[in-house]
Amino acid sequence: MSDTITFVHLTDLHVGNPAEPDDHLYSDTSATLATILAEVKSLVPQPRFIVASGDLTNRGDAGCYRQLQQIIAAAGLDMPVLYALGNHDRRDGFYPTMLGQSDDLDAPYDHAQVIDGLHIIVLDSSVPNKVGGAFEPGQLDWLKAQLEEHAELPKLLVMHHAPALDLDSPDMEWESLSIADTEALRDALEDYDVVGILSGHIHFDRVSNWHGIPVVVGIGQHAATDVLWLHEGLRILSGASFAIGTLRPSGLSITFAPQPAERRELHSFTFAGMTEMLKKYESTEAAE
Ligand SMILES: [Fe+2]
Repeated sequence: MSDTITFVHLTDLHVGNPAEPDDHLYSDTSATLATILAEVKSLVPQPRFIVASGDLTNRGDAGCYRQLQQIIAAAGLDMPVLYALGNHDRRDGFYPTMLGQSDDLDAPYDHAQVIDGLHIIVLDSSVPNKVGGAFEPGQLDWLKAQLEEHAELPKLLVMHHAPALDLDSPDMEWESLSIADTEALRDALEDYDVVGILSGHIHFDRVSNWHGIPVVVGIGQHAATDVLWLHEGLRILSGASFAIGTLRPSGLSITFAPQPAERRELHSFTFAGMTEMLKKYESTEAAE
């Protein structure tokens, strides 16, 4: 693997079809995505790749995916985008529009590639007409074959539904991968170097240590779940974020880039100004 790899994690893009009214679209996701992609373009260093961990669109129809494609193309980014599917996506909308594929439209969209020595595995945890996540027969076998094929490489997993953190709460399976598949996934990954799992679905920023593997979930680009109200139910607030991942030999680091409604500057320093200020501060301290 290269010494350091930088990448971007997008999730829950929920891009809408501008030609169809949609009561379940709570914000201008097209505008948010365009803004965030412009920010990604300005990042230094430029990320090596982008992952988008599902709910790419709000309704999954071809018009939504065409809109997504247009926004991505207009951003003019010079890096691959790896897509995962979520519960708001539809495979029969995604495959023809995004991949030009006209057969096997029911198949889960699992794929993998090696970028700079990092083995990125994207698993489709979406289940048609279901909110929670699960794997279909054959997906875990595909995963095991992938893991074996590049057994020595570090691995980054991408899937819309994060593993279930509580194995004794089946009533909460709607917000994660199913408990049975969570346990099967844990067994499958046991002997490999998995540097992280990138997910979405619950629309809030959360980092968990899952059996030693960092599991990173983002607010995404549609709306934010009010984490202070989870004991009552689901309150949706305006809000969006994306994340910048840096993978070093020491491990994965994630920096969240929230999108505030108002970004008012209170003060700023250049690096040169900061050095000057530190010098001044230290000389004052030394004199006292
Ligand atoms: Fe979502």
